Amino acid sequence: MPTKQRRPAAQEQMLGLISGYWISQLVFVAARLGIADEIARRGPATAVALARRTGADPGYLARILRALASVGVFAAGAGGKYRLTPLAQTLRSDRPGSLRSFALMMVDDYNWQAWGALADGVTGGGTPFESHFGMPIFTWLHQHPEQERTFAASMASISGTENAAVARAYPFGELERLVDVGGAHGHLLATILARHKKLRGVLYDQPQVVASAASSGFLATPELRRRSEVVGGDFFSSVPSGADGYVMKYILHDWDDDESTRILTHCRAAMAPHGRVLVVEHVIPPGNDTNWGKLLDINMLVLTGGQERTKEQFARLFARAGLKLKRVVPTACPLSVLEAVRA
Ligand SMILES: C[S@@+](CC[C@H](N)C(=O)[O-])C[C@H]1O[C@@H](n2cnc3c(N)ncnc32)[C@H](O)[C@@H]1O
Repeated sequence: MPTKQRRPAAQEQMLGLISGYWISQLVFVAARLGIADEIARRGPATAVALARRTGADPGYLARILRALASVGVFAAGAGGKYRLTPLAQTLRSDRPGSLRSFALMMVDDYNWQAWGALADGVTGGGTPFESHFGMPIFTWLHQHPEQERTFAASMASISGTENAAVARAYPFGELERLVDVGGAHGHLLATILARHKKLRGVLYDQPQVVASAASSGFLATPELRRRSEVVGGDFFSSVPSGADGYVMKYILHDWDDDESTRILTHCRAAMAPHGRVLVVEHVIPPGNDTNWGKLLDINMLVLTGGQERTKEQFARLFARAGLKLKRVVPTACPLSVLEAVRA
């Protein structure tokens, strides 16, 4: 018999919204214990067996898994054994596009605390992360190598499916030399170079980031090493010169309009006369529709003082840097490629 609705639907829905952070923490716990990996490795298992294998308290874990199953992450079957659901599959570490390290990073204590400072930030101004920790997030991460590693890993893994979609969507083969500005460990650049055999690439990021790029192995094959170079530097001072393409993915959303204009201005100054700047970001659509980018926008506000932008906002930003938005190329993932040339 269906259970009787005990609350008005809007109240029920609002309760779900208010307690959304409970679910974030439950997903974090499952990710930290590696529950999805454990089930993938050895098949469905009871909470007691999973607790034994992951070092968790069996009573706690039984309740945590029951709550997670109630929102579609894991499902209990015969004999109380938990199996993977499509949602739980996304927490496996061995899958392309795995969200496990993203969960570990996003719900980690430092992000939790920064989001907790949003309410004061909205009235007091300032970037909540900086008000709370007294420094910008990238400086803080540099001082916390474990979190910096998890950050890089989570960017690489969330990019797992996105990079292929970006590489397929845009005609990078029309270019001769492409600089990936803020390219982290070179995952996007390697994906693009693998598709376009005549293209040469430059990976450009902070010195300490590119120093560990080799160990990630993205540009490690002899063929990719031959067609790429790795340069450390600061994109607020300069970017490598003379290329006909400057791609930057998830870069401008970290920065406010003045800072973003500085990065774009350096690209304009550095690029060949016929060069293009290719910005890969969410483009926020007008209207009230659900769009994850609108929530990511608040995450950028909290952590970096940056923002997600509409097409018009990108066009204005390009104009400030002496560039002109030529077209927006959609991809098979939520990101688009905004192509700009000299104005
Ligand atoms: C959000 S991550 C994006 C990484 C990569 N493009 C991707 O899509 O996965 C931002 C990147 O900008 C780099 N970065 C931050 N400040 C920088 C600076 N001043 N100069 C060069 N790179 C910088 C960071 O090291 C990091 O790799």
